[in-house]
Amino acid sequence: MIYEIYPRSFQDSNGDGIGDLKGITQRLDYLQSLGIDAIWVTPFFPSPNADFGYDVADYTGVAPEYGTMADWDELTRQARKRGIRVLVDFVLNHSSDQHPWFKEARASRTNPKRDWYVWHDPAPNGGPPTNWESIFGGSTWEYDAATKQYYYHIFLKQQPDLNWANPGLQKAMHDVMRFWLAHGASGFRLDATPYLFEDPTWPNDPDVKGGPSVGLKPYNSGREESHAILREMRRIVDAAPGQAILLGESSTPTIDDLAKVYGSKADEINLPMNFLYGNLTHLDAKVFKRQLDDAHSRLRGQPPVFFFSSHDHSRQWTAFGDGVHDDAIARLTAAMTLTAGGTALMYYGEEIGMADLTAAELKDVPLGPKRVVADKRDPERSPMQWTGTAGGGFTTGSPWLPVAQAAATTNVAAQSADPHSILNWYRQLLTLRRDLPALREGSYVPLESGNADVVAFARLDRSGQGVLVLLNMSAAQQRLAISGWAGGHVPSDGRVLLTSQPDATVDLANPVLAPFATRLVAFRVR
Ligand code: NOJ
Ligand code: CA
Repeated sequence: MIYEIYPRSFQDSNGDGIGDLKGITQRLDYLQSLGIDAIWVTPFFPSPNADFGYDVADYTGVAPEYGTMADWDELTRQARKRGIRVLVDFVLNHSSDQHPWFKEARASRTNPKRDWYVWHDPAPNGGPPTNWESIFGGSTWEYDAATKQYYYHIFLKQQPDLNWANPGLQKAMHDVMRFWLAHGASGFRLDATPYLFEDPTWPNDPDVKGGPSVGLKPYNSGREESHAILREMRRIVDAAPGQAILLGESSTPTIDDLAKVYGSKADEINLPMNFLYGNLTHLDAKVFKRQLDDAHSRLRGQPPVFFFSSHDHSRQWTAFGDGVHDDAIARLTAAMTLTAGGTALMYYGEEIGMADLTAAELKDVPLGPKRVVADKRDPERSPMQWTGTAGGGFTTGSPWLPVAQAAATTNVAAQSADPHSILNWYRQLLTLRRDLPALREGSYVPLESGNADVVAFARLDRSGQGVLVLLNMSAAQQRLAISGWAGGHVPSDGRVLLTSQPDATVDLANPVLAPFATRLVAFRVR
């Protein structure tokens, strides 16, 4: 299980209202007690923060607001002691326009670093070379008046794309990877991997007809050339001690495209995140069953990576909650992700059922350098709720984003003391996942629940011990008629391992589930 930390909001150690590396170190005992394997720390490098750190101005530095390199080294040292690996967020598709490389590149057309970025002459009418749209809106092209060319950016104009076809750039970025590996990193979360190359014929997009047409396109993403680049990165992490890995932000249009991201010889990204699953925001049993089954049958046997919520996605509580059964729903989505096999990824605060900040909570926070201008993702980036006191145990100062009002009751301290809390639900799930071979490494058995509102699957270890997982994705009680077991025989002697419905029975063939109930049942196949 990999735990994502947005450092700005996790723990402030010096009262300036901004979370920092020392703060993460202070919370390692808590993270160890959760039973996680690794943390992914989102960018903490020097940055003008046009995109809160995803516009990197120095790939091998630590921004003063997050601490020092010594703090980083101490974090990795302390994490290792506790069996927790640390992944660095590697923003490889683009740098900041304030990075010295880009400043050099834009100095003149003949500058040696010119080709480290993607430049193009204007169209014959002087306008942008293509009609492509950037992910954050507007053209992908920004005109540089001094050198009379456009540079390409798939994200903000403050995030010029790096040119991965350039050997000098490649070498510089490989050196960045080696730097962090030498500083205790156990690998990288690779940002925006689909976008490393563009179609060199620069075709116009026929779909852009005045309205926005953004996202993954055959001309801006998923290009063949990126495989060689990712294979080289894989060689670099494989050569490092301690089984370093690549975790990929690798959205793809289809599951078959996702299969390719692992590499044809499983020699590219170890763990590409499954966005076909992670982007779902509506509980629909048919849709989820298909994503779970596909992830286990169409990735050529490679481990799926399931996640919900991140610094770019609404929190599960907000995305899936219906306002009535929020608690049961939070338990259900947690159980699904943590029992479905492969690798699970979770965003800080999900373990206590944190919600997005509301518009009312954000209304007094001025836009500007503190809060990124009109960043729609502020709601899911609020400070971690450790305690019910002012500052939520996150800071003794004034937090950079408000601590949610819900922190008064929804916090780690309160939930630790309550055996029925969501936090303890997560702890139980994580313990089962660690202790039961079926959940840890068992095969995935797709089942038919006989009910369009319920997802059913099983995990089975080599000795025939299994766990049946039942998830009712509706607000009504549901009766099931489970089928799909090998040989057609329904296993007997079940034992409830975990349930969000106190009166749960162990009937394995025709169980009844309360609204949004989750049930995990241990069984044995003869
Ligand atoms: C994906 C990151 O997760 C997101 O926060 C960022 O804005 C873009 N990549 C650009 O780096
Ligand atoms: Ca701080």
